[in-house]
Amino acid sequence: MKDDLVLLVVGSGGREFAVAKKLKESPHVKTVYCAPGNVGMQTIGVETVPIEETDLDGLLDFAKSHNVDWTFVGPENVLCAGITDKFNKAGQKIFGPNQRAAQLEGSKDYALRFMSKYDIPTARYETYTSAETCIAGLKDFEYPVVIKEDGLAGGKGVTIAQNQDVAEETIREMFAGGQIAVVLEECLVGPEYSMFVVVSEDQFTILPMAQDHKRVGDGDKGPNTGGMGSYSPLPQLKKADRQRMIDEIVKPTMNGLVQGIYHYCGVLYIGLMMTESGPKVIEYNVRLGDPETQVVLPRIKNDFAMVIDAAVNHEKLPEIEENDNCVLGVVVCSKGYPTHPAPNVKIGKLPEGANTYIDYANVKGDLENLTGDGGRLFMVISEADNLVQAQDNVYSYLSKLDLLDCFYRHDIGNRALGDFNII
Ligand code: AMP
Ligand code: GLY
Repeated sequence: MKDDLVLLVVGSGGREFAVAKKLKESPHVKTVYCAPGNVGMQTIGVETVPIEETDLDGLLDFAKSHNVDWTFVGPENVLCAGITDKFNKAGQKIFGPNQRAAQLEGSKDYALRFMSKYDIPTARYETYTSAETCIAGLKDFEYPVVIKEDGLAGGKGVTIAQNQDVAEETIREMFAGGQIAVVLEECLVGPEYSMFVVVSEDQFTILPMAQDHKRVGDGDKGPNTGGMGSYSPLPQLKKADRQRMIDEIVKPTMNGLVQGIYHYCGVLYIGLMMTESGPKVIEYNVRLGDPETQVVLPRIKNDFAMVIDAAVNHEKLPEIEENDNCVLGVVVCSKGYPTHPAPNVKIGKLPEGANTYIDYANVKGDLENLTGDGGRLFMVISEADNLVQAQDNVYSYLSKLDLLDCFYRHDIGNRALGDFNII
């Protein structure tokens, strides 16, 4: 076993912050680089590298010239662009699925066909390649109907239309906006959970589960976002239901990945809904979730770097051991997110919290005087004995901040605490 691993994380958000931090904690890791990373990573001893995540040649050159043992890819666009195929061809180890497997996230239609081929429970669906046929297809679905852009949309390309007028307008807008395929789906009902499976060929191991809050506003109002806050564990999820998710979703999915010869090495993120008729897949993603990662990784007892090291080297994957921490995090965004996030919002210096910490995302400047550089700026996180305490810690820290051009949700974690008005 190497004891001075040199690792590269690709990406710049809160998810990559949390990944780099967890990798850095391992006694087997000497250096963690992050490209391009963010300025907040100075607080965790991660070396940022000024190479854009889309510059695949630049990343490969860096990995080779800096003796990187393996690279961990955060964002889906980089995986869909084929970074893994490029690295594999050059003999450079990488954690993240290849371009073919990345279509499970990159194309809704591809993922739905995969699920239908391998008998994986999901919503009834149909794919259309013109606005006219799609509008005609509405008659085969009840309202509300789910309308999805086929391609990558960062969680924002989904509309749940309550009536024909909204549905028609949405479909026309999606095609006019350049979509070449749009999917109509039966609207599933039930609580939604995020499951993260580390996959290495035919082996898998499951990370702690989490729940995200995708809508922008309190009480689950407003448009979908990349995610506004998360928590783990999930007290409301019964053990037996989690086991059903493994038996009815994870195992057949693994069977599909093996039968279909995907050579999957990376995280498979399964967005699940626990419906009356059992667990169903809402979506596959081919990477960790943001902001779930920030609350999932602190709950892992294992040496995470060694889990990923085993995956990239096709060694035996360990079972993941969860600690008893209750972790909750709230994302702070710039006003106008997700549609028109205000640029360059003033943050200044974020104070130390007594029982909270910050995972930085889209920030620039220096730690004494930060500026927001996009929609989701940073996440305030607390680890406590119970979720009520963690929630209390986070909101009491946030209440002391004076951030004029920012906002956050005020009800992260309420679902776990018995407020089922939001689903
Ligand atoms: P996606 O981009 O597929 O993750 O969808 C974003 C969000 O839309 C999901 O997290 C769900 O909350 C919601 N959603 C997607 N598909 C469905 C469905 N078939 N039924 C109900 N809600 C859905
Ligand atoms: N939190 C949702 C996502 O990462 O897609």
